[in-house]
Amino acid sequence: MKLIDKAKFSATALAVAGLFTTSAGFLESAPAYAKAPPKQQVVLDASAVAVADKYSADAAEQIFKEGGNAVDAAVAIAFTLAVTYPEAGNIGGGGFMTLYINGKPYFIDYRERAPLAATRTMYLDEQGNVIKGKSLYGADAVGVPGTVAGMWEAQHRFGKLTWKQVLAPAIKYARDGFEVDEQLAQRRENAEKDFGGKTNFDTYFGNLKQGVNFKQPDLAAVLTRIANQGAREFYNGKTADLIAASMKKDHGLITKRDLQEYKAVWRQPVQANWNGYRVITAPPPSSGGIGLVQLLKMKADRKDDFNNVALNSPQYIHLISEIEKRVFADRAQYLGDPDFYKVPVAQLTDDAYIAKRASEVNPTTPSDTKSVQPGLGTSMPEKAETTHFSVVDKWGNAVSNTYTINGYFGSGVVAEGTGIVLNDEMDDFASKPGVPNMFGVVGSDANSIEPKKRPLSSMSPTILTKDGKVSLVIGTPGGSRIFTSIFQVINNVYDFNMPLNEAVATMRFHHQLLPPNTIFWEPYKPIDGDLAKQVEAKGYTLQAQNFNGDIQAIKINGETPQPVSDPRGRGVTRVIP
Ligand code: DON
Repeated sequence: MKLIDKAKFSATALAVAGLFTTSAGFLESAPAYAKAPPKQQVVLDASAVAVADKYSADAAEQIFKEGGNAVDAAVAIAFTLAVTYPEAGNIGGGGFMTLYINGKPYFIDYRERAPLAATRTMYLDEQGNVIKGKSLYGADAVGVPGTVAGMWEAQHRFGKLTWKQVLAPAIKYARDGFEVDEQLAQRRENAEKDFGGKTNFDTYFGNLKQGVNFKQPDLAAVLTRIANQGAREFYNGKTADLIAASMKKDHGLITKRDLQEYKAVWRQPVQANWNGYRVITAPPPSSGGIGLVQLLKMKADRKDDFNNVALNSPQYIHLISEIEKRVFADRAQYLGDPDFYKVPVAQLTDDAYIAKRASEVNPTTPSDTKSVQPGLGTSMPEKAETTHFSVVDKWGNAVSNTYTINGYFGSGVVAEGTGIVLNDEMDDFASKPGVPNMFGVVGSDANSIEPKKRPLSSMSPTILTKDGKVSLVIGTPGGSRIFTSIFQVINNVYDFNMPLNEAVATMRFHHQLLPPNTIFWEPYKPIDGDLAKQVEAKGYTLQAQNFNGDIQAIKINGETPQPVSDPRGRGVTRVIP
């Protein structure tokens, strides 16, 4: 029996026996998946990673040298970033992992869920208005974390090494410390202004200063327990008790039962054929995969309009914004957690439907926003963080992983006695239909708050294959900018034939229907001077934003992986022969 069949069999059999479902392996004492990865041939001349910092690159290198595969490396990276990249790396948040293993696509959804006591109106005052900041700061903002369950599922299904081996680098950095760099120290300072005595953030991170060797003994103890006892320790052991007690003290909603009932879910990734490639990307509860497919296909549908239009010229910015408008109109209306709301994935990614939407694009002037979708919008504030990493191994497997605690340092709440920074993912729900969240995007009933529901995400870990072989592994943070950023880089690589490093470094911009005809630009490569004048002359308003992604991508050229980290961040690449 092949691994995957065995995995399905064991999980299903246990589910029938009432022990656990296919997606709750961490509550069982025995792993849900047999650890016998299929024998694979070496097809690349090296393994490679593109990650958010140098410590996680070192961790990945160690894992590859110990004989691990892309999944082992990915899990080691995820736990390491929870220590060395605490503004976004996490075990107190959640995310998505897209995998391509032995020629087959997989996707694990370990997004946070709303606590059992959550209600639709929990962020509204008596007049029905959204209470500012309640879904962003403090214990009220926290969703039930999924990262540990997700990593456990992925590693137990596809890893080659032991669970303890992949946790070892993270434990070392938490116990012995790591040197804090300038960007991290700066982000802590910014976060402190936000949390300003409202949470216990300072008790744990007050000393996170540039050049300091920063140790996290509580977190080291948590990671050691997880390494020894498995993921169920986080959801049902001492760590679960500590999180629940901390929540109770802060009047948060998460209880031990919330943790015990958390499930990571294997889902079918969104897949589409585009330009001779197979695009494998995130399904709902992400909006990003559907958005990315719509963007790629609408642009292809309007290829005549793009003829001889220079990259990032005023006309290019106009055409892309017109396409983005339609994608965000769909996002606001139809997308939410598929376990609660029937998301019309097939219709939204249907070629004929996309062609019809593309035909509505006005090639010369911005179409009236109201005719596309009415609503309100706002700009993206400073507070935003997520992180992505891309991994390939020499056997041709790939992992594309994006995970998040939403804002920098999440809710600012550290679960007492654990060092775990808890997320503020509840802000990704539509607190009230039509009222924009932190990223300025609105939602409908599809994304209203319900117990155990997952908030709508934009995270889009993506893999492109050609003839069954990996061509590109890509992803980024950036909230609603995530899939428009990935789209632009894919365009730059495949439509403009740029080398990956240039494709990533080139200017990016963003439009999301709301605010009307507003194009966001980034300080890194601004829209300014004549370009700004010409874009404004077309009827757009330009607005600065502090952040337009931190792409981590790997392109396979022949048999050689070329990893690239976005120059916008402190990312690092590594090729491991
Ligand atoms: O899931 C989402 O779409 C957001 N919570 C991601 C947040 C993010 O990317 C912040 N980074 N800048």
